[in-house]
Amino acid sequence: MIYLDNGATSYPKPAPVRHAVLDAMLRCANPGRGGYGAAMEAARRVYDCREAASQLFDCDPEQVVLTSNCTHGLNIAIRTLVKPGSRVVVSGFEHNAVTRPLYALGAKITVAGHRLFDQENTLEEFEAALRAGAKAAIFTHVSNVFGYILPVEELGRLCKKYAVPFVVDAAQSAGAMDISLRQLGADFIAMPGHKGLLGPQGTGLLLCAGVPEPLLYGGTGSDSVRQDMPQQLPERAEAGTVNVPGIAGLTAGLRYVHSMGAKAIGLREQKQARAAAQGLKSLGIRVFSGAHQAGTVSFLPAMDCEELAQRLAQRGIAVRAGLHCAPLAHKSAGTLGTGTVRISFGHRCDGSQTQRFLREMAALS
Ligand code: ALA
Repeated sequence: MIYLDNGATSYPKPAPVRHAVLDAMLRCANPGRGGYGAAMEAARRVYDCREAASQLFDCDPEQVVLTSNCTHGLNIAIRTLVKPGSRVVVSGFEHNAVTRPLYALGAKITVAGHRLFDQENTLEEFEAALRAGAKAAIFTHVSNVFGYILPVEELGRLCKKYAVPFVVDAAQSAGAMDISLRQLGADFIAMPGHKGLLGPQGTGLLLCAGVPEPLLYGGTGSDSVRQDMPQQLPERAEAGTVNVPGIAGLTAGLRYVHSMGAKAIGLREQKQARAAAQGLKSLGIRVFSGAHQAGTVSFLPAMDCEELAQRLAQRGIAVRAGLHCAPLAHKSAGTLGTGTVRISFGHRCDGSQTQRFLREMAALS
């Protein structure tokens, strides 16, 4: 199979990730719940993950909260910063993982920046919205549909200028771009463990500059007499037994990314995305591409998007079609009625995958 759905999850996972999962199941009990060997081993593996993440994302290990996925981290961050009725500024390219929690809270949402690949427009509209007043800002680093790279550093500086706390959704950038919690100055950065970080599905990270409100309440293996959740991180945001095998796999993924270099991975993916976009355009297909684009490309084929994805699947090519859980991004790009077909490259991509994809597309066009 030619796998071009890395925006959904990376696949297959590298061998060290698979081995780490199995090894943790063989050797680990419940972390922080006992002083015997298998419990201590589990605690060590969990700490290893925080440490590996802290190295990759330039923060302290205690600032790394282990979550089930990026959505989980975003929910924690949003529940912390946004109160019912609060005004929140978001980009025009947010995923339902951002917009649905805001909707559920009854937040007043200002959408700033609808133009694809236009960082100036994004910055101008954000500044106007922040100037008008907001309790929080939330923006994706890279659009999961179009690969548009938002100017997160400059957006962060604008948020600081207007003293608005902010959250970055790094779902599509973690593992493919350099990210520093310290430099970005974000209150929270949420990311999945299973996409660019190459860990198992059901893992994620929330990097916390501030103290989050718990989303779940329960046992933490510490301060057990108290009935409120501990103040200190990471326990405050990690009630219940964590996913030790998944976390061990994620550590291996983080180390794998570290050894390849996130930036090098991203550049490799971008190169293939550019080649694919060019090839699709030469087939007469409408392609969404531009400056500031990561390793993800959406296009609008002549036939129905789902049907094309199905035909590609029959030919051994995995892509994702439809709205990609991001109706706001499609609305901004004018593709809400049709959806798009999305290809998203991964850490091992090369020209042979792109060429094979383009050959199949030519045959189907
Ligand atoms: N949000 C993931 C995607 O873009 C699942 O496919």
